[in-house]
Amino acid sequence: MTISSIDKATGFEKRFENIGTIVYENSTIASKAVAQEIANLIKVKQSQKQPCILGLATGSSPKGLYAELVRLHKEEGLSFKNVVSFNLDEYYPMEPDAVNSYVRFMKEQLFNHIDILPENCYVPNGLLSKEEIADYCDQYEAKIEALGGIDLQILGIGGNGHIGFNESGSLQNSKTRLVALDHITRVAASGDFGGLENTPRTAITLGVKKIMEAKRVMLMAWGEGKSNIIKASVESEVTSNIPASYLQEHHNATFVLDKAASSKLTRINTPWLVEKIIWTDKLIRKAVLSLAIHLKKPILMLTDADYIENGMSDLLADSGPAYNINIKIFNKLQHTITGWPGGKPNADDSNRPERAEPEKKRVLIFSPHPDDDIISMGGTFKRLHEQGHEVHVGYQTSGNIAVADDETLRFASFVCDYNDKFGIESLESKEIYKKAAAFLKNKKSSEIDTEEVRFIKGLIRKGEARATCHFVGIPDEQIHFMNLPFYETGAIKKNPIGIADVKITLDLIDKIKPHQIYAAGDLADPHGTHKVCLDAIFAAVQELKSKKYMKDCWVWLYRGAWQEWAIDEIEMAIPLGPDQVLEKRKGIFKHQSQKDGVVFQGADSREFWQRAEDRNKETADLYDELGLSHYAAMEAFVRWHF
Ligand code: F6R
Repeated sequence: MTISSIDKATGFEKRFENIGTIVYENSTIASKAVAQEIANLIKVKQSQKQPCILGLATGSSPKGLYAELVRLHKEEGLSFKNVVSFNLDEYYPMEPDAVNSYVRFMKEQLFNHIDILPENCYVPNGLLSKEEIADYCDQYEAKIEALGGIDLQILGIGGNGHIGFNESGSLQNSKTRLVALDHITRVAASGDFGGLENTPRTAITLGVKKIMEAKRVMLMAWGEGKSNIIKASVESEVTSNIPASYLQEHHNATFVLDKAASSKLTRINTPWLVEKIIWTDKLIRKAVLSLAIHLKKPILMLTDADYIENGMSDLLADSGPAYNINIKIFNKLQHTITGWPGGKPNADDSNRPERAEPEKKRVLIFSPHPDDDIISMGGTFKRLHEQGHEVHVGYQTSGNIAVADDETLRFASFVCDYNDKFGIESLESKEIYKKAAAFLKNKKSSEIDTEEVRFIKGLIRKGEARATCHFVGIPDEQIHFMNLPFYETGAIKKNPIGIADVKITLDLIDKIKPHQIYAAGDLADPHGTHKVCLDAIFAAVQELKSKKYMKDCWVWLYRGAWQEWAIDEIEMAIPLGPDQVLEKRKGIFKHQSQKDGVVFQGADSREFWQRAEDRNKETADLYDELGLSHYAAMEAFVRWHF
């Protein structure tokens, strides 16, 4: 489906969606819809006494789909006896039963729980010798052809737009083959492999040609982290740089998205360019700010012509001239800035983001990992305390997997020396040290730490969080280590949120009865730790909301180290001066285990304090460019109404 635009060559794209997209409220509902389409197809094929040929993917995106297929099998009797499946890819080299093999993934997520015949499950073989691969790949394709081709191909999408492991540069007629993995793909996988150095460099992948020959293709993408590549794949020209864009030329491809992954599509991000819209206050704000940013003009300098030439003439007709709209939006943005995150006492608060009353508030900051509070809202944290509010911090998880092994021994030996020095009987601590040292010496890549090692790592991070709180000035009684159980798997893969996680969160809120809650509102990775921590808070608040004190509680969301709220979403911006930026940096430095190269560095080689400073400066610069005051840095928040 192509939606043509009304733009007048202003730089906004002319063509919009060139692939059908369906946007669901969240990935759970979306996954169920995809599962339903698969189930229907399997049943149609059963009634025709035909095999159903499915192309399957691995990764985090299809997990909900496989869970739903398993449910359909167990609870609704869906049989997979007529299904033949071909997986897209496998790392090479790879043992089939290794922790990160796709064979194992498929068994654990799907095959072991349904009645598909084992001989009908094809996953590329990661054990071949290099010489065998080319023939093997030809046979893999021949098997698909002999069965009449793939009826339905499921895909995820890489951050670079890869489909299968067809990385940027893959040709549209590429065959099934051995490929070298992109750096960006390896970085994304490196968490699972315990560091980039242990991550495979090559993989076997189904070629683009066979994917394009599938009768139906469904590509699933969740989370804001995928939003840019989704927009590029769906709206850009077809290019080998983004192999997913080839699907624009497929006759029956659909992108199934959650709201966050769809958020950059033109029709969602800038709907006034696509169709006639009802101009709500929110949309006006968004449109005017994007116009100012696009034209690199301060808000108050936008002219009638700017509005008309950029698809906003109906807004101008309704609410113009430009000066009136500009001033309204300028004031709105101005009112988001406050040096009083807990509200300004004895001041008119009708145009301030927070209430003046009560003058002294109880504040509960939730920090998913032990350093998110200081990284993401360190300036606000300090200011809340200095302005006399009772600030509590709830550290939601232990963060124990992100500590390097050698740190563990450094701290364990410190305990032994400390005990010796002060004459404390310390046989057990020596024993713990010895056991940890022996384990770590022989630890294999991505092997799960022993419970003791995990515990020591958790203690290291606990000490760092406490040091930050002391630096800010928070007493011990106001520091709460929640150790949410969902996190404690020892592996990158966490458990889903459970009743216990919600209960611990609920109990802490109920104990403090806060006037303000701050929470990490990260939606980039819907399965990531931040999102699970947020879901626990949402669930707890929903349960508590009828309580009297909750009527007086406001929830503010901050963003993690990786990204900031969009300018049109920000409802409270706390400015920092140059000295406060330096103070915040010192607070972040308390997290020594996260400095100078961390266990999960990701694609961004900057340290956390650098990312935080860059991000806060970018927000301040944006306010400046839009014509507001110029600050050194700004921390931004969005209110969540429950
Ligand atoms: C997996 C595959 C990859 C993934 C993609 C997205 O078999 O071929 O293309 O679909 O890397 O991975 P997730 O879903 O983990 O974001």
